[in-house]
Amino acid sequence: MRVSVSHQPVAVFPGSFDPLHLGHADIISRATQIFPRLIVGILENPNKQTVFTPDERLGMVRSLYANDPAVEVRLFSGLLVNFLQQMRATIIIRGMRAVSDFEYEFQMALMNRRLSPAAETVFLTPKEEYSYLSSRLVREVVTLGGDVSGLVPEPIRSLLEERLRR
Ligand code: PNS
Repeated sequence: MRVSVSHQPVAVFPGSFDPLHLGHADIISRATQIFPRLIVGILENPNKQTVFTPDERLGMVRSLYANDPAVEVRLFSGLLVNFLQQMRATIIIRGMRAVSDFEYEFQMALMNRRLSPAAETVFLTPKEEYSYLSSRLVREVVTLGGDVSGLVPEPIRSLLEERLRR
């Protein structure tokens, strides 16, 4: 059966992205092989302390994907399923790195499906070399003077060093 372009599902990759690291970038690249339109949804949560403001995170991720027409980057707040609805998206992309991610991800997927039965979560696994990577570890290593080259995009590495090593 052929599916017309207008019926191709739109996918959202939600997260805090504080900061985006190469594991995220790998998931974005895998997701765009499957879905023709991917919206990276950056959570704007006033109750969560972040290194970068929502607008800074938006600017960083937008500039990385400025030349990729398949990737759109937006901020969202409130329920993810409401954002999906606004974007006319039905797919939630999440990265699954290891068994330790499973419980949290499983709970979120089922809660999102309960809130919106149309929401389908698709889990993608990053390259092995990024399977231990998290934004929290990246922030910690940079704060303590370690080198995160090869783990985050270069422009983000310099912004992180500037921000965390003052
Ligand atoms: O990368 P993160 O920080 O683990 O992403 C978590 C995120 C943004 C996907 C999650 O916190 C979220 O969807 N927040 C929006 C609020 C919401 O919808 N909560 C109910 C989901 S179960």
